Amino acid sequence: MPTVVYQLPDGSTSSVDVPAGQSVMDGSVRNNLPGIVAECGGSCSCATCHVYLDENSCGSFDEPTLEEQDLLEFLDGVQPCSRLACQLVLTPDVDTVTVTVPPSDA
Ligand code: FES
Repeated sequence: MPTVVYQLPDGSTSSVDVPAGQSVMDGSVRNNLPGIVAECGGSCSCATCHVYLDENSCGSFDEPTLEEQDLLEFLDGVQPCSRLACQLVLTPDVDTVTVTVPPSDA
């Protein structure tokens, strides 16, 4: 099962096994991790699931859709590695991915 390593806003790290087919957002919300609010429940419309994807993990996911790119464009603290965690769906061949959860005011 894929493992997602969440680097949390308080500086701590949490490793969670997330079944393939679920997203990086699902893994956070279902384990009550702080930082990923996911207001829209994963329908790519709220951008409260913003994370920074580790550069070694980029190959594990498809490129962002235009819809996702549009939302990312208006976020504060956006970086080239910014993604919406609800759009990062894990596949069975993923081993470990690492994301950094920005502080909520970023
Ligand atoms: S949970 Fe709303 S855009 Fe990801």
